Amino acid sequence: MLPADLIGFKKKGNQITMLTAWDSISSSMVEAAGVDVVLVGDSLAMVALGHSTTLPVTLDQMIHHTQAVERGFKHISKKKPLLICDLPFLSYQCGEDKAFAAAGKLLKNTSASGVKLEGAEPEILKVIKRLVRMGIPVMGHLGLTPQSVNQLGYKKQGEDNLSQEKILFEGLQLEESGCFAMVIEHTPEEIASRLKNKLNIPVIGIGAGNNCDGQVLVTADLIGLTDKQPPFAKPLISTRELCVKALKDWVVEQQKLGENPTKSTFQ
Ligand code: KIV
Repeated sequence: MLPADLIGFKKKGNQITMLTAWDSISSSMVEAAGVDVVLVGDSLAMVALGHSTTLPVTLDQMIHHTQAVERGFKHISKKKPLLICDLPFLSYQCGEDKAFAAAGKLLKNTSASGVKLEGAEPEILKVIKRLVRMGIPVMGHLGLTPQSVNQLGYKKQGEDNLSQEKILFEGLQLEESGCFAMVIEHTPEEIASRLKNKLNIPVIGIGAGNNCDGQVLVTADLIGLTDKQPPFAKPLISTRELCVKALKDWVVEQQKLGENPTKSTFQ
């Protein structure tokens, strides 16, 4: 599948499913679940590297993790998910040449088919146009853009008329600049829904209501691996709690073994 094929999903009214992966175990799971798109998001800075924001992750780290994600794919079913990778903070904000070199390095060293980047400021639109013209598919990202955490925090975006109109205008500009799809994060449902109706490219929501062309979530939040999830990502299962309980049981059992080596339930 090519990134542009997602536009066909929208035309047919098929919902797009996208989940993040950050290593070979997470990618094998989301592939087995049958998602359409696997995103190596820069959220891996927080999920896998222990940072408190997405800002510190580097391009080389994104490449390293994307290669691990590729190795996790088992290719069991004919349906191969589309692999998209985030361009990290400072890899695309310093001019078109640097952005092209960063995106090119990512595509040269991994099997990602495209990149995702945040925002729609005039400088970013120039970058998008350049990447697309040079053959690198781009997914946009508006609303809550975590790379701007020092300006926006993690709060819901588009709460007043002015910022709603700004997001809608930016969505149109992303489409005009050549994005094949866009993510809209943590906004009122109405904005995502209006964008969906206005744009030909798919609008993939995260915390932006159900009326989108698809949904994306950080897999670690969805399966309850992280100890604190955003308000829009209620975990489906309490994986962390279950794992900690199983590991505690194992530790207690080993301690008991020291007292009586013939009794083990773990063999
Ligand atoms: O980095 C990420 O995981 C993302 C998703 C939240 C869309 O950008």
